[in-house]
Amino acid sequence: MPDTLPDAQAPAGLPTLKPGHAAIVGLQWGDEGKGKVVDLMTAQFDVVARYNGGANAGHSVEVGNKRYALHLIPSGILHESKLNVLGNGVVVDPEQVVKEITGLRDQGLKLAENFLISDRAHVVMPYHKAQDQLQEAAYVMPNAMDQTVEGIGTTGRGIGPCYADKALRSTAVRMTDLLDLDALAHQLHRIVPIKNTTLKALADYTGEAFEPFKVDALLDWLRPLVEVLRPHIADTAPLLHKRIASGQRILFEGANATLLDIDHGTYPYVTSSNCSSLGVHPGTGVAGHHVPNVLGIVKAYQTRVGGGPMPTELHDETGERIREAGREYGTTTGRPRRCGWLDLVALRYTAQISGATGIALMLLDVLAGFEELKVCTAYRIDGRTTDRFPADAKQLEAAEPVYETVPGFTEPVDDCRRFDDLPDNAKAYLAVIEKTIGVPVVLVSVGPRRDQTIVR
Ligand code: GDP
Ligand code: IMO
Ligand code: MG
Repeated sequence: MPDTLPDAQAPAGLPTLKPGHAAIVGLQWGDEGKGKVVDLMTAQFDVVARYNGGANAGHSVEVGNKRYALHLIPSGILHESKLNVLGNGVVVDPEQVVKEITGLRDQGLKLAENFLISDRAHVVMPYHKAQDQLQEAAYVMPNAMDQTVEGIGTTGRGIGPCYADKALRSTAVRMTDLLDLDALAHQLHRIVPIKNTTLKALADYTGEAFEPFKVDALLDWLRPLVEVLRPHIADTAPLLHKRIASGQRILFEGANATLLDIDHGTYPYVTSSNCSSLGVHPGTGVAGHHVPNVLGIVKAYQTRVGGGPMPTELHDETGERIREAGREYGTTTGRPRRCGWLDLVALRYTAQISGATGIALMLLDVLAGFEELKVCTAYRIDGRTTDRFPADAKQLEAAEPVYETVPGFTEPVDDCRRFDDLPDNAKAYLAVIEKTIGVPVVLVSVGPRRDQTIVR
């Protein structure tokens, strides 16, 4: 795998950044194309570090005619001389990460000392996945006041229960614990009965099947995985600081997205970590002043997977057309993504929360051929017009989008390589976005491949 991008695949440059480090952050509900941008931007950096989430993420990178779907391993991994790190804020499913390591090695990547996992990162255990499913089933159980309720629609990857155990402390397992399986056996003898008790109660309540977890079976499952993972487990924060001190540059890769942030997203329809740029610091141990560049990744329209409010969702053939043109099916679960017009109320909010200094506008090619395009610039909630993004999911559910309509562009844009190649109406669409949110569009993506990129 080439380390530097061959000319035929490289865009004609990359966005100019301020000196120092940078974060790549989704500004919608995920799947904005973060994987593609991280892969591109890695050329300018020495280290790529994930700071949050786990295998709920699905980041696609297309190089030539090969497509890589990465869930845990950072999207800089195709550049072999760069260090790729899973920070302490990531929750690591050992089986999934070993599957990805093996898959990438089978494709010829070296994946040795260039991939490290923080010893402070928490481990997603099989009982977390069982709990994820049972918790979701329990939440949607009909009750005396509610016959139906919308579930969170998690990816089922055990993310919420693992972060919950991190907060509980007494039932948590960290990567460092995997280094001593005898000590871990003692720890699991304390943890597993507690987990089995919780799971059995949830299973009894929901009527779902449940097989108690056994410590020996968990250790047997872990043993071969630990053999693969041991050389990759390290105290990563001091290593990152050593790189910073030596003048190297770090690219922080966000998983999930700002509207899914546990504190600032559309709670409770969110994931369980700080996926906005605010998560970089707790999730890696690198303080905020080191990261003056935040590239906000934005799809040219809106998508969402799972439950929760989405004011601009289209339930008609326009929504269907966007889904088919954008191949909007989840990288992790294969679920069809809900599609709609770009929501600038939400985007102004997330650009502010994540402190976006530039926008990468992705999948612009998908909008080619529409006679007109709409962008949501305000909400009507309870008879009032507002451009404020509400904290309450029920209010957001009630929000009716107020649209501005702009003329569409009929010509395909996937062969455009310079900003001036874009049709005037596409440029006008970008100008509306920039004007409304006050952040410049520094990169435009017109297809999944590396070369289908316009740098301004
Ligand atoms: P991530 O989770 O933010 O990394 O995004 P995903 O990889 O889950 O989803 C983005 C999808 O869009 C992937 O299939 C990408 O290959 C694809 N993609 C990225 N940029 C573009 C683009 O500009 N145009 C099109 N048509 N597809 C793109
Ligand atoms: P990337 O990094 C899209 C959504 C799930 C669900 C909610 C909670 O590929 O953009 P969880 O399993 O995290 O408890 O699910 O969050 N979700 C994502 N949606 N892209 C993602 O990641 C997501 N990660 C989580 O669909 O609604
Ligand atoms: Mg994704």
